[in-house]
Amino acid sequence: MPWVPRVARFMESSDMPVSSIIIRSLTKQYANLTALNSFDLEVEQGSIFGLLGPNGAGKTTLIRILTTLMRQSSGEVFIEGLDTRTNGLKIRSMIGVVSQENSLDRYLTARENLVLHARLHGMEKSLYNRRIDELLELMGLSDRQKDFPDTYSGGMQRRLVVARALVHKPQLLFLDEPTTGLDPQSRRAVWEYIRSLSGSMTIFLTTHYLEEAEQLCDRVAIMDHGRLIALGSSQELKDRLSGETVYDIELERDVEHYSSLLGSMPCVSNIRRIDNKIQVSLEHWECLSEIVTALNGAPIRRITLKERTLEDVFISLTGSGVRG
Ligand SMILES: Nc1ncnc2c1ncn2[C@@H]1O[C@H](COP(=O)(O)OP(=O)(O)O)[C@@H](O)[C@H]1O
Ligand SMILES: [Mg+2]
Repeated sequence: MPWVPRVARFMESSDMPVSSIIIRSLTKQYANLTALNSFDLEVEQGSIFGLLGPNGAGKTTLIRILTTLMRQSSGEVFIEGLDTRTNGLKIRSMIGVVSQENSLDRYLTARENLVLHARLHGMEKSLYNRRIDELLELMGLSDRQKDFPDTYSGGMQRRLVVARALVHKPQLLFLDEPTTGLDPQSRRAVWEYIRSLSGSMTIFLTTHYLEEAEQLCDRVAIMDHGRLIALGSSQELKDRLSGETVYDIELERDVEHYSSLLGSMPCVSNIRRIDNKIQVSLEHWECLSEIVTALNGAPIRRITLKERTLEDVFISLTGSGVRG
């Protein structure tokens, strides 16, 4: 199903949002492999943007180019209006990066890791000490600041890496799979911190977790094989999936009888039986009243609208095969 590109929609509106990131026809070739293929995207200033895609889709390659760690084969990238090919130094001073691996210095304490980062960014001691105190507090790591990262849990290490990326007060924060491998509690803690930053900077994150994108991101892009395949808010993406509405009808008994009755109705486009539940897909929501009439006298326990998830969209766009 086609969708209106965000850029085109902006042109129509009078108060045009400012794009923090502009990507045009970006292509990256690794020998014979095309990791990014004519990729176009704009990310609005101050928003949280989520890039989803299966393994090998090209997410890390894209982040590496956006953060000037790698050069594209062709196409253009502008970070706050600056071309990544000619303004690497300036761009690196404006961005914070949380790479896929933690890359903490294990021979420095947590605080020393942050101090090193501040000094690499040429910050004054009086300035960075206060900033580091604030960040350790924000990330819930003040008590453990004198410990070495190896003694930290996975979630604490990840929070420390996020803190490190924020020391020099970046305008943009890039996070490559910030919560992969974390337990649900730690993941939620990292989400809280990311959410608390929203509005104060542009946040660009990649993730495997659809719930993460739904919880955090204003807009989501789904990519596969180096190409952008869908773009919008998670609600817009779910709405685009199909016009059908799906209801679960749970019965006390007579499931067989009612499933064949409903199955014979023209407005029911699909029907599935799961234990004492009948799942019907309706072409239009108006069909629901016909269904209710047909179920008159049936021992109904409950009828629920089955909410579509971003996962449904993801699977429908990228297929259900497992990637290496
Ligand atoms: N340095 C590299 N040299 C050659 N191929 C690479 C390199 N980095 C990544 N690739 C390949 O490019 C594709 C995209 O990889 P990547 O950007 O890491 O995807 P993702 O982060 O979405 O898993 C994959 O097929 C991967 O094997
Ligand atoms: Mg990756």
